[in-house]
Amino acid sequence: MRPALLEGTGVSKRFGGLRVLSKVSFGVGEGEIVALIGPNGAGKTTLFNLISGLVRPSEGAIRMGEHQLTALPAHRICRLGIGRTFQTPRPFLDLTVAQNVQTAALFSERPSAPPEALLDLVELGDQAGIPARHLPAARRKLLELAMALALGPRVLLLDEILAGLTASEVSRVTGILRRIRDTWGIALFWIEHVMRAVMETAERVIVLHHGEVISEGDPRSVARDARVLQAYLGPSTP
Ligand SMILES: Nc1ncnc2c1ncn2[C@@H]1O[C@H](COP(=O)(O)OP(=O)(O)OP(=O)(O)O)[C@@H](O)[C@H]1O
Ligand SMILES: [Mg+2]
Repeated sequence: MRPALLEGTGVSKRFGGLRVLSKVSFGVGEGEIVALIGPNGAGKTTLFNLISGLVRPSEGAIRMGEHQLTALPAHRICRLGIGRTFQTPRPFLDLTVAQNVQTAALFSERPSAPPEALLDLVELGDQAGIPARHLPAARRKLLELAMALALGPRVLLLDEILAGLTASEVSRVTGILRRIRDTWGIALFWIEHVMRAVMETAERVIVLHHGEVISEGDPRSVARDARVLQAYLGPSTP
């Protein structure tokens, strides 16, 4: 594993009496593609909310390079180079596709490609002039990807960016993700349920189950791990 650019140590989160994350440690190296998988309710999105400063951890530390994130507000964390797309995308619905990316670029304090180039990259260039509310949900995620790129991230947190896509669209979007990493060296920390895409694209996989890391490693070894199979399929019956 490359030295971690983004690293969490012993991160826990409770909501009242509900323990959602328990002593989760993780690392994402510069330019690395790391998938975060696990059954529904495992705590994946909550971990992203902690990294991006929308929710505070109950325990533990998260750092990006030299910077401790856990005391910083979300906009400072974003300026350190952590971009994000959401499980439920929320672009500005009444602005056009292009205006959404231009608006994100206004807040950029880091170098990034021009909005038009980012829209071409996510294959929305031909829809630049339409209001975002006319985009289907799967394409709104690609719009959010372009908006996140406009902020010049070093790490992108992607929350189920492939959900709702057809098989051929999945291949196109994983191609886009690889290009983002290969062209700019941006690390991807990527929550995904589409296992074929994870197996083909991720360099390392972290598996969360009931808020704990139950397995971690290269995609093939994680897919063979009995704890992972049990988490997805339930205990085997004789
Ligand atoms: N703000 C909150 N207050 C209370 N409980 C919460 C809050 N946010 C998340 N949870 C709970 O934490 C647990 C983990 O939720 P989370 O959204 O992180 O799961 P997930 O792994 O992203 O699941 P999915 O694959 O379905 O998106 C769930 O039981 C959820 O109800
Ligand atoms: Mg989620």
